Amino acid sequence: MAFPLLLLLLLLSFVFKAANVQPRSSTIEPGSSLSPNNNSYLLSESGEFAFGFYRYENGYSVGIWFENIPQKTVVWTANRDDPPFTVDSTLLFTEGRLIVRQKQGQKVLIDGVANATSASVLDSGNFVLYSSSATIWQSFGYPTDTILPGQRLVVEGKLVSDVSDTNHTSGKFLILMQGDGNLVQYPVGAVESGFGYWNSETYTAGNGVSLNLESDGLLYLQNASGFNIKSINKVNALGKPIYRATIDTDGIFRLYSRSSNRSGDWITEWSSLDNKCDPVGLCGENSYCVLMEGEPVCQCPPRFNYIDEEQKGLGCRKNYSLDACMRKNDQTLDFFELTGSSWKASDAYLNFTSRTKNNCRMECLRNCDCDAALYNNQSCKMLKLPLRFGRKETSGDTITLLKIGGEFAGPGTGKRKRPRKRKLRMDILITSLVSTCSMLALIVVAAIGFLKYRSRVREYEQILQTVNNRVAEDVALKSFTFEELKDATNNFVDEIGKGAYGTVFRGVISNGNGERTVAIKRLEKVVTEGERDFKNEMRAIGITHHKNLVRLLGYCYDGTNRLLVYEYMKNGSLADFFFISKLKINWEGRVEIVLNIARGLCYLHEECETQIIHCDIKPENILMDDKGNAKIADFGLAKLLMPNQSKTYTGIRGTRGYVAPEWHQNLAITVKADVYSFGIMLFEIVCCRRSVEADVPENEQVLTHWVYDCFKANEVEKLVRNEEVPKSKFERIVKVGLWCTQYEASSRPSMKKVTLMLEGTVNIPDPPLLSSCVNSP
Ligand SMILES: *[C@@H]1O[C@H](CO)[C@@H](O)[C@H](O)[C@H]1NC(C)=O
Ligand SMILES: *[C@@H]1O[C@H](CO)[C@@H](O)[C@H](O)[C@H]1NC(C)=O
Ligand SMILES: *[C@@H]1O[C@H](CO)[C@@H](O)[C@H](O)[C@H]1NC(C)=O
Ligand SMILES: *[C@@H]1O[C@H](CO)[C@@H](O)[C@H](O)[C@H]1NC(C)=O
Ligand SMILES: *[C@@H]1O[C@H](CO)[C@@H](O)[C@H](O)[C@H]1NC(C)=O
Ligand SMILES: *[C@@H]1O[C@H](CO)[C@@H](O)[C@H](O)[C@H]1NC(C)=O
Ligand SMILES: *[C@@H]1O[C@H](CO)[C@@H](O)[C@H](O)[C@H]1NC(C)=O
Ligand SMILES: *[C@@H]1O[C@H](CO)[C@@H](O)[C@H](O)[C@H]1NC(C)=O
Repeated sequence: MAFPLLLLLLLLSFVFKAANVQPRSSTIEPGSSLSPNNNSYLLSESGEFAFGFYRYENGYSVGIWFENIPQKTVVWTANRDDPPFTVDSTLLFTEGRLIVRQKQGQKVLIDGVANATSASVLDSGNFVLYSSSATIWQSFGYPTDTILPGQRLVVEGKLVSDVSDTNHTSGKFLILMQGDGNLVQYPVGAVESGFGYWNSETYTAGNGVSLNLESDGLLYLQNASGFNIKSINKVNALGKPIYRATIDTDGIFRLYSRSSNRSGDWITEWSSLDNKCDPVGLCGENSYCVLMEGEPVCQCPPRFNYIDEEQKGLGCRKNYSLDACMRKNDQTLDFFELTGSSWKASDAYLNFTSRTKNNCRMECLRNCDCDAALYNNQSCKMLKLPLRFGRKETSGDTITLLKIGGEFAGPGTGKRKRPRKRKLRMDILITSLVSTCSMLALIVVAAIGFLKYRSRVREYEQILQTVNNRVAEDVALKSFTFEELKDATNNFVDEIGKGAYGTVFRGVISNGNGERTVAIKRLEKVVTEGERDFKNEMRAIGITHHKNLVRLLGYCYDGTNRLLVYEYMKNGSLADFFFISKLKINWEGRVEIVLNIARGLCYLHEECETQIIHCDIKPENILMDDKGNAKIADFGLAKLLMPNQSKTYTGIRGTRGYVAPEWHQNLAITVKADVYSFGIMLFEIVCCRRSVEADVPENEQVLTHWVYDCFKANEVEKLVRNEEVPKSKFERIVKVGLWCTQYEASSRPSMKKVTLMLEGTVNIPDPPLLSSCVNSP
C-alpha cells in the first residue's frame, strides 16, 4: 500500500513542480524578460488577469487577458494592427523601455515611454508602467475594443472593434466619446454626422464627459464635475459577476457579465442595438444588409456580383459597364427599383428637386453623374457608385432607382426582364400584322428585330432596349390602371388644357427603359357601351402613325375612368401660338403648318385602315412639337361620344365658327365636314387672326366674308397687313381655302386634293364666287 501512495505523492509533487516552473509575478523588473517559448507571463495578484504573449494567428501578440476562465478573452493588445511576433521573440525590460526582440530585429512595445522603472499588471486588468512610484503609462488609457470596471473612456477616447473573432486588427466600427458629451457609434472612416448609428443622446452635456464602467456593472456617463448624467444600463447583478464592455466585430456595443467560477460563459447584459443590420457599414460597398432569422446577410443588387463569394461582407461590384452619357454601341439605360433598400449618401451629393418617383428617375437619367437615386417621401437624392452603407429598410418606403445599362451578364441577373422583352417583341410582330397604316415603320422594326433575333440573344435584347426607347412603344398601346396614371400625374395637379372631350394633364410615365413626359387626357361624357368597344377605338387610334398626328401611347379603362395617354407636345397648341403668345411665324412657316395639317387629315381620311373623321378641327386641336411640326390631336374621339349603336355623327357638334353647314341641317357627316373646318383654320393661319373678331371694321369681322371680298376684288394682300407675301402664292392658298369652305359638301375637294393643291402640283380652278357668302359661321 505504501508504494503506490509514495508514487502518488511523488507524482503529485512533480505535477506541482511542473506547474510552478514559471513562478508568476505581477511585476516585471528591469533586466528581466518574458517569452512565448517558455510560456512566461505576468499575473495580477488575484490571478484574474495576465499580461504577456498570447497565441495569435501563427505567432504571438502581447496583451492582457482573463486568466481564470476557460474562454480566452483578450481585453487589450499592444500594437493590434502589427503582424504577430514569432515564437522566438522575447519581451525585454531594458533601459526604461519595453522592447520585443525577434530574429529580424527589435521593436519598442510601448511608444514614447523611455524611463520606466517598473511595470505591473493590476487586478483591475490595467497594465501600468511606473517611473519611481509615478504612473507614466497605463493600458487603461489606450483601450482597444474593451473597457473593464474602473476604466473610463475620456473625451476623444474610442473603442474600435476587431476585424473578426480570429483577427484582432482594427475592424469596421468604433464608439467615440465626443467632446459634445455624446457617446456615438460610427463606421470607421465615416465619423461624421449622418453616419452615426447609435448614440447616448447626451449631445448637450458639454465637454469633459466620460464613459465609465462600475464594478457592479453600471455603464454610465459622468460629466466634468463628477455627476452621473446618464446611466446606460440597469444594474441587475446577483452574486459577484465579472464585467466587460466591448464593441463587437458586428458593430454592436455590448456589456457582458459572467460568474467568476470557471463554469458558465459570458452573458450579454445590455447591447446598444438589437437589429444586427443597424450598424452602418456592416456590408461592404454596393451591398446591403438583410436580416434572415435575426442574422445579417449582405446582398448584392441586381446585376452586381459579390467581390468574393466566400466573404460576402466584402461587398459587391457591378457586372455591367455604364457610359451614362455617351450611349455608345447601342448601349441603353435602364433602371432597377430596389424597394425598401436604402444607402447613406454623402451630403455633398445633389438633392434633386423631384417630388415624384418618376421625376426622380428622370432627373437621374438626365444627370451623367447620377448612378442611382434614392426616393423616399417625395424627396429624391442622387447617389454615386460605390453605394455605401446599404440596408433593407424596416419601413420599406425607400426606393433605390439604380441606373444600369450595357450588357447582360451574370447568372440570375436580369432574368426578371427577359420575359417582358420577349412579349414586347411578340407585340411588335402581332401589331405589324394587323396594321396597315404604319406598314413601313413596322416592317423596319420587325426586320431589325428579326435580324437581331437570328444573331445572338444578348444582341437582340440590346437592340430591343433601343427599340423600346424609340419605336416599340409606338406600336404597342399600353393599358394603364387608374392608379398608375394618378401617380404619373401626381394626382392630376398639372392641368395643361381643357377640350371638348375632357381635361388634359401633364404626367410622367416610365416605359421600362426610362421615362417620358406625356399628356394624359381624362375623358368626360364617354358613351361607349363596353370595354371591347373602347379598346377597339383605342386600337384604331393606336395604329395610326403619321408625323402630323399626335401619337396615342396608351389608355386606361378602369372602372368608370377613361383616360388617354398621348405624347407630350411641349410647345402647346396652334391657338397658343397664334392667339395667346401672339408669336409671329413667317409666311413660309405658316404655309408649312397648313401643309402639315393637310397631310395629317389626309392620312386620317384616306390612308388609314379605318377612316377617321375628326369632327373638331380647330387651332386648339393642332399641337406643335419641338421641331415646329404641327400635329393633329384628339382625332378618333368623336366616335366615343356617339350615342349607342347608331354609329353616326349626328349627335356631335364641332366648335362654333368651324363647323360645316351640314351640322346644322341634320345631314350625314362625312370627311368633307373636316375639310370645311380645315378651310376656316387655313384662313386663320395665313391671315394670323381669329375667324371672327370684334374689334375690327364690320366688313372684316367674319374672316371668310372678308377673304371672299378681298379675293373678289383681287386685293388679297389686304388680308395680311404689315407683311410682304408673294401675291400669287398667297392667292393660291386663299383659293384652296375658298374651295374648302364651299357650302355644298360635295363641292369641297378631298384632303388628298387639298394637299396636292397646296403643294402646287395641280392647277387650282377659281372657286365659284357666289356660294361662299352663304357660309356664315
Ligand atoms: C524565459 O525565456 C526567456 C528568453 O529565453 C528568458 O530570458 C527568461 O529568463 C525565461 N524565463 C524563465 C522564468 O525561465
Ligand atoms: C521620464 O522622461 C520624461 C521625458 O522623456 C521626463 O519628462 C520625465 O520627467 C522622466 N521621469 C522621470 C521619473 O525621470
Ligand atoms: C486581419 O485583417 C486585416 C485587415 O482586414 C488583414 O489585412 C489581415 O490579413 C487579416 N489577417 C488574417 C490572418 O486574415
Ligand atoms: C454636471 O451635472 C450636474 C448635475 O446635472 C450639474 O449640476 C453640473 O453643473 C454639471 N457639470 C458640468 C461641468 O456640466
Ligand atoms: C458557477 O456559476 C454557475 C453560473 O453562474 C452556477 O450555476 C454554479 O453553481 C457556480 N458554481 C460554483 C461552484 O460556484
Ligand atoms: C441635401 O439636403 C440635406 C438635408 O436634407 C443637406 O444637409 C445637404 O447639405 C443637402 N445637400 C446639398 C448638396 O445641397
Ligand atoms: C415626409 O416629409 C414631410 C416634409 O418634407 C414631412 O412633413 C412628413 O412627416 C414626412 N412623412 C414621412 C412619413 O416621413
Ligand atoms: C459578370 O459576371 C459574369 C459571371 O458571373 C462574369 O463572367 C463576367 O465577366 C462579369 N462581367 C463584368 C463586366 O463584370
